[in-house]
Amino acid sequence: MNLVNIGEKRVFVADCDDLCSQVADEVEALLRGGEEVVLGLATGSTPLPLYAELIRRHREEGLSFAKVTSFNLDEYEGIGRDNYRSYWAEMWENLFSHVDIDPEKVHVPPSHFENAEVAAAEYEARIREAGGIDWQLLGIGRDGHVGFNEPGSDGETRTRRVDLADETREDAAPTFGGLEYVPTHAMTMGVGTILEANRIVLIARGAGKKEIVVEALTGDVGPHVPASYLRGHQNVGWFLDYAAAGIDA
Ligand code: PGA
Repeated sequence: MNLVNIGEKRVFVADCDDLCSQVADEVEALLRGGEEVVLGLATGSTPLPLYAELIRRHREEGLSFAKVTSFNLDEYEGIGRDNYRSYWAEMWENLFSHVDIDPEKVHVPPSHFENAEVAAAEYEARIREAGGIDWQLLGIGRDGHVGFNEPGSDGETRTRRVDLADETREDAAPTFGGLEYVPTHAMTMGVGTILEANRIVLIARGAGKKEIVVEALTGDVGPHVPASYLRGHQNVGWFLDYAAAGIDA
């Protein structure tokens, strides 16, 4: 594990195993602290090795999720929970089914709703009722999105229904078997919602993320790169693999 500076921020750079083990240590410290913990969780390929490591610690080392309440960042619109492409299903397949989390304490934004504003306000209310998010996990999109806060999302945005950017839909096309099947809308926590978490951990892996990570860390802060707003938060851990950091291993 190396600590390097990109722009004014110190970032952790390591191989995938070390990154995940370091981030899993943070989660473990929270879970073994004995208090109820509110985790903000992310989908996509980035967190999968982390979730695998947490499952391993649950199975082999007795790490318990019994005191966890979770809130996922986002969900596609119109994709039911029984559809394996939904983020609800993805979270159960890759984490929740394998640990002792209470299903009643799992929250993922709704994919179906009559009124988007009401549904979004309800999600925000649930986060508030849980006492706010202690620890928020993020990936980053090639376009600089966090959650589904696409370029144009400012730092004040709250949970809401959004249009998905073309680049995001293109990245999802293989999973959906073609661009025409990728939803055009989603429900996402806002950048402002995310920034209220006590601790934020952003993981970026792979050379495809290098350019946007550098832009988020060194470019202007603004809605053109929603991840850039993280620089205004006091407690963000940036965890990059060597390829995402542009450093030779
Ligand atoms: P990925 O997506 O983990 O599949 O790269 C990250 C994101 O879009 O936030």
